[in-house]
Amino acid sequence: MSRSSWIRKMFEEGARLKAEHGADNVFDFSLGNPNLEPPEQFSQNLEKIVQEKGWHGYMPQAGYPHVREKIAAFVKKDQGVAVSADDIVMTCGAAGALNVVLKAVLDPGDEVLSPAPCFVEYLFYADNHGGVFKSVATREDFTLDLDAMSAAITDKTKVVLINSPNNPTGQVYSKESLNALGQLLRQKCETYQRTIYLVADEPYRKIIFDDIEIPSIFDSYADSILVTSHSKDISIPGERIGFAMVGPEAEYRDDIINAMALTNRIIGFVNAPALMQRVVAEMQGATVDISQYKHKRDLLCDGLRECGYDFTTPPGAFYLFPKTPIPDDVAFVKALQEELILVVPGSGFMGPGHFRIAFCVADDVIVNALPGFKRVMERYR
Ligand SMILES: Cc1ncc(COP(=O)(O)O)c(C=O)c1O
Repeated sequence: MSRSSWIRKMFEEGARLKAEHGADNVFDFSLGNPNLEPPEQFSQNLEKIVQEKGWHGYMPQAGYPHVREKIAAFVKKDQGVAVSADDIVMTCGAAGALNVVLKAVLDPGDEVLSPAPCFVEYLFYADNHGGVFKSVATREDFTLDLDAMSAAITDKTKVVLINSPNNPTGQVYSKESLNALGQLLRQKCETYQRTIYLVADEPYRKIIFDDIEIPSIFDSYADSILVTSHSKDISIPGERIGFAMVGPEAEYRDDIINAMALTNRIIGFVNAPALMQRVVAEMQGATVDISQYKHKRDLLCDGLRECGYDFTTPPGAFYLFPKTPIPDDVAFVKALQEELILVVPGSGFMGPGHFRIAFCVADDVIVNALPGFKRVMERYR
């Protein structure tokens, strides 16, 4: 509870400030809850599908075969990898998928390594399944530091968990760095005579700006497991729909798939939400209007740059992770709160000396918060 308290604290503080000052006067950048409505196609599909009869029973734990086929066809085209429906387990969002994967592959005491700053729930998910979480430093611009990764891998490492585009930094890992990571992992597997899985958590894969491309993890490393959801790309986080996909060339592919179907059941999910599986099957490749997030990113980055904030412009996701002008990120975030601006201290993501701004908010919130961001920066410069 105390380790997870940052997001919780911001949430409670937000509720208190909104009650006191009115919701419109509080600039809440604390949660990664997309503000854009799902694409029109979503409600159209839902209305059509909800009328059909005979779809409310138990199903294969991996999910409906026709849904997995549609997803496999999309990933095959999008990423150029020969995946099939049998490589996929439908899950309750990316969070569900991560838990299903970790329960399937971890033995007690196995290490889960993740480049930091990172999504802090990883700690709890590793712990849920007997794993030991270890964060690994990244470079100044939050790209992968392979020397740090190499030094962190031991004979107990079972999973390297990466997230690109990243929460909280928005950074994207290049094809070259993923290839180098793949090479490093193959060497370490050889050294320690065990399989290390590369788990790629990609719920922000489709939220990218400036014509960059997100490489396919399966091209860089065979023993990869892709984890994702439609929470962010079509703005349905409350609906809890995602999937895990095992690399078709993974050494223990069949065992992992069978284990994941079992863990989906025994963790208690049983299967991913039936209605949502059928809806998203018809929406592979669909997204909200990404240009709106790009507009918000540019509005925020241009405004904060003028106020003197120092940051790496995020090429993806909807988060900005600026440096705090003082070492104490918690004190800086408290100063922003006095201006009714809610953000999360970087310490909450294992990235002290920074703070996270979730810019999946209305444009007005960004524009109206800038004077407050400026006043606080002026106090500390
Ligand atoms: C990096 C990352 N992974 C996983 C999740 C969980 O996503 P979902 O809502 O699909 O479970 C989130 C949610 O914010 C996230 O930021």
